[in-house]
Amino acid sequence: MKYCRRLGYYGVVLSVVVMWGLVSVAQAGIATTKHNLSVAGPGNVKSIDETEICVFCHTPHRAIKNDNIPLWNHNLSTTGNYGVYTSPTFDGKTTIQDLGGTDATTAAVSNLCLSCHDGTIAINALNNPSNANPNGIPTMGGTNADGTIPNGAARLGTDLTDDHPINFLYDSALFAIDNSLNDPATLSGVVLFNGTVQCASCHDPHNSVNPTFLRVNNTGSALCLRCHNK
Ligand code: HEC
Ligand code: HEC
Ligand code: HEC
Ligand code: HEC
Repeated sequence: MKYCRRLGYYGVVLSVVVMWGLVSVAQAGIATTKHNLSVAGPGNVKSIDETEICVFCHTPHRAIKNDNIPLWNHNLSTTGNYGVYTSPTFDGKTTIQDLGGTDATTAAVSNLCLSCHDGTIAINALNNPSNANPNGIPTMGGTNADGTIPNGAARLGTDLTDDHPINFLYDSALFAIDNSLNDPATLSGVVLFNGTVQCASCHDPHNSVNPTFLRVNNTGSALCLRCHNK
């Protein structure tokens, strides 16, 4: 009560409003992001007849299944070779693996992103389209003529040798040989998948509270510093 009295009525109302604001920002979901590819999506790339959001990536039944990917519904890329990152000081070279030549049985989390972002598969190429769509597969707007992700920064292409390394183990052995990483056992905010760095280690495809779906706001390079001890 003391606290309330000092704050006064407007103070209390204001702090409730501020807290409510924080809570609603924290809960802002996929609907307001460019990954809402349904008719209600806010971006340029979206469907003109598909009302579901998750269906572009997940399906509850008849998913493309392996034990490393979550009920996946977007057809995977057949790109044979993406190349892997290399440099004289990169210590992860012993475990890094090319993401190319994958099929449903070997796909890693990064292959899910690449199923749209390597620019070879149409955005509406779904394994199990929604029954609710009167036209079967979603009709899209904003894509390239062949249905793929439009040219621009989001179209990464099929050469990953100039991108931050992915699909390698970030484990205690790497931590021990590389003297400028944080201990992978105590990371916060970022995520490893089966102990490996993937696209979704840095990005949360469901949430763009931080620009470009980053899991941690990168002001002051805070995202980088979750893993790198520089
Ligand atoms: C643009 C693609 C995309 C859309 C749309 C999408 N997801 Fe995902 N989802 C992914 C990817 C990629 C992963 C694996 C990476 C990860 O776990 O963040 C994933 C993982 C998940 C997981 C397992 C990991 C976790 O966070 O618990 C669940 C559950 C999930 N999604 C639910 C949903 C639901 C529900 C929707 C619709 C409201 C949705 N997703 C829409 C791409 C998408
Ligand atoms: C999820 C953890 C994680 C995040 C977040 C992360 N990195 Fe890394 N990064 C690594 C790991 C692990 C390596 C491999 C380190 C090694 O073996 O040299 C690496 C490698 C690198 C390398 C190559 C090192 C070399 O010797 O060639 C650079 C440069 C780099 N990261 C910069 C960044 C920058 C800049 C950011 C932020 C935009 C970032 N990283 C975010 C985990 C991360
Ligand atoms: C079903 C197709 C699909 C999948 C799967 C997908 N994306 Fe996207 N993503 C898109 C589209 C479409 C856009 C918007 C492109 C544009 O506007 O030019 C986009 C935009 C983005 C952007 C840019 C956001 C911005 O604000 O500019 C990022 C970052 C991104 N995606 C990361 C990812 C990551 C990481 C994954 C996997 C974890 C992923 N995406 C999976 C379709 C997809
Ligand atoms: C180590 C962290 C990290 C990993 C791993 C990572 N990204 Fe990013 N990504 C970033 C950061 C940081 C940005 C924002 C760059 C900026 O704003 O200049 C970004 C930006 C993007 C963008 C927006 C376009 C652009 O160039 O700014 C897309 C699309 C994207 N990432 C997709 C992916 C995909 C797909 C993968 C996996 C193949 C991936 N990212 C892996 C950190 C990462």
